[in-house]
Amino acid sequence: MKGNYDHFMQKEIHEQPESLTTTMRGRLISGDSSKAKGVLLGGLKDHLKTIRRSRRIVFIGCGTSYNAALAARPFMEELSGVPVTMEIASDLLDREGPIYREDTVVFVSQSGETADTLQALKYAKKNGALCVGITNTVGSAIARETDCGVHINAGCEIGVASTKAYTSQIVVMTMVALALGDDTISSQARREATLDGLLDLPNKVREVLKLNDELKSLAKLLMCEQSLLVFGRGCNYATALEGALKVKEVALMHSEGILAGEMKHGPLALVDETLPIIVIATHDACFRKQQSVIQQLHARKGRLIVICSKGDTSLVCTGGSCRVIEVPQVVDCLQPVINIVPLQLLAYHLTVLRGFNVDQPRNLAKSVTTQ
Ligand code: M6R
Repeated sequence: MKGNYDHFMQKEIHEQPESLTTTMRGRLISGDSSKAKGVLLGGLKDHLKTIRRSRRIVFIGCGTSYNAALAARPFMEELSGVPVTMEIASDLLDREGPIYREDTVVFVSQSGETADTLQALKYAKKNGALCVGITNTVGSAIARETDCGVHINAGCEIGVASTKAYTSQIVVMTMVALALGDDTISSQARREATLDGLLDLPNKVREVLKLNDELKSLAKLLMCEQSLLVFGRGCNYATALEGALKVKEVALMHSEGILAGEMKHGPLALVDETLPIIVIATHDACFRKQQSVIQQLHARKGRLIVICSKGDTSLVCTGGSCRVIEVPQVVDCLQPVINIVPLQLLAYHLTVLRGFNVDQPRNLAKSVTTQ
């Protein structure tokens, strides 16, 4: 089942070009030549009008599934014009937070069986909201109990650390945003760029996977560290959270994803010559701000590893030395799919080098069915 790979996590990272292709199969409506002109999501089409008229869209999930929703949130808000709020399932339940009948609540879960997410679904149903499921498991409890939804079709994920499900979840939520968005003249260019980006995404992921050896050598450098920080913002705040989650979950190394805009409100105190810090600074609307973050970290002699767009090394490495990982640039809303891959590879190699169990990290289960 693992084929030529040593571990399921490794296999699942490397099969992302194929899993993403399967996620999109039959869902991109073809237009002229080789371009797509829209998306068709069979499980949602009868509910799109209701979702567009919602007071809010509320994303609910746990762990990696929450992070995927966070990555998709800006584009969902931009295209649907509906405010999107985020809820970690357990926190919503602890607070008994407000969910209204005018809300559309989207439940994101790879397994479709996570107890907190399922409880939150019951709670949202009781409050009369329209409940949408985004799962990888046909026939799972969340798939059955939601009013409608989309399967991510990423294929069976065995490694406890979620990898290919994360990228497929982002792609599905991007397609949901496209399906919800009006086909107005003003949004046409944006829609076309995103549809083109989706079609080319598997190739771009194939390209970024070629960085495997580079990430292995970075892992050798970091394997004895106690801690690792990951700074991101915009769509890539989610990448920072997800990258840090992968490192702590499988490599058993303390790691924290930090919103770069919060740097001066506490995290800056940690910066010195020893603590490794990964900064995600690919080319998007936040790039300038990330350049300034890098300069401020350099000024404190931070030990930096920067993930940037291909060709941008000279733009990010000013004011000090840093190690750079160049990744292919894609449309901003899909960049988190590309940017997470080096961090998945880093977490994988760190785990192997540190001698921990890759597919069954201690104390964790693939599906958390108790609260
Ligand atoms: O099956 P789900 O997507 O609902 O699972 C949610 C989390 O338990 C899960 O994503 C967890 O955080 C992963 N093991 C992270 O890799």
